[in-house]
Amino acid sequence: MKQKVILTHKYRDEGIEELKENFNLIIVEGSGRSLMETLKEHSDAVALISFLSDPIKKEHMDALPNLKIIANYAVGYNNIDVAYAKSKNILVTNTPDILTDASADLTFTLILAACRRIVEADAYVRAGKFTGWGANLLLGKELRGATLGIIGMGRIGTAVAIRALGFGMNVIYYNRSRKEHLEKQYGFKYVTFDQLVREADVVSPHIPGSPEVHHLFNKETFDKMKPDAVFINLARGGIMDEAALADKLEKKELFAAGLDVYELEPKVHEKLMKLDNVVMAPHIGSATFTARLGMAKMTIANIKQTLAGQTPQNLVPECR
Ligand code: GLV
Ligand code: GLV
Repeated sequence: MKQKVILTHKYRDEGIEELKENFNLIIVEGSGRSLMETLKEHSDAVALISFLSDPIKKEHMDALPNLKIIANYAVGYNNIDVAYAKSKNILVTNTPDILTDASADLTFTLILAACRRIVEADAYVRAGKFTGWGANLLLGKELRGATLGIIGMGRIGTAVAIRALGFGMNVIYYNRSRKEHLEKQYGFKYVTFDQLVREADVVSPHIPGSPEVHHLFNKETFDKMKPDAVFINLARGGIMDEAALADKLEKKELFAAGLDVYELEPKVHEKLMKLDNVVMAPHIGSATFTARLGMAKMTIANIKQTLAGQTPQNLVPECR
């Protein structure tokens, strides 16, 4: 008999097909039942595939006494109470690597869109305001010679930094540990967090969300940044004080921001909604056909390996 696997939301069809071939698949989305109701009804499930928008807490794990693995369909897993999972010998996996290029590409999309005011420009054309070439029309910031500051030189941070070289940017970074091989190979410069926020023209954090970094970017941090700096956030909304950022942008004490994540997602601070100098995306960092199919396949591989008694390929460090 096929073992029962619960998928919280629908993902790529190819992934769902593969799940159905291998497991007794229960999909919460579209079933008319809440996640909790589904878990209680299918308490014999051995695996749960969750989205980053699904908080997976004690009570969810307690509802599934046979649960062996939570396969998160995301690289970040701050939606899961990993410490509790570990205490119950439930493995937690994520989907790293496969979404690195997609995320780094979107980071650069936001950097360029913010620096060259492309959303404002598009709105200008659509509003019929384009009446001729203007010497001072929609001037923006150039990337060559500008300094990109990366906080968190992991897979995505590194992929963004390497892309920056193609644009002629200087790269400084802050990370818990130095990455001397990257300094040697690419000329990236290691600085303190304080130096980074003061010196960078574009500040881009690529760190996991956790209570320790809650509001790492608050009024005090934004005040240290250059008045014409650009702030990018593709990491997690909780790392920034969105109201403080909106204030700085409104007063034009920063040049612009490019955001893909929000503090109270899917809510966006109302002040940001009214500003021209912020470019916003609805958490689509990994939203390419390639990455999303790869992520689905990874969740399936991790479940198969776990149920076969092997260590899953993408076990998160806290569970190792
Ligand atoms: C996206 O935010 C992810 O963590 O995969
Ligand atoms: C940071 O991401 C937080 O969860 O507060």
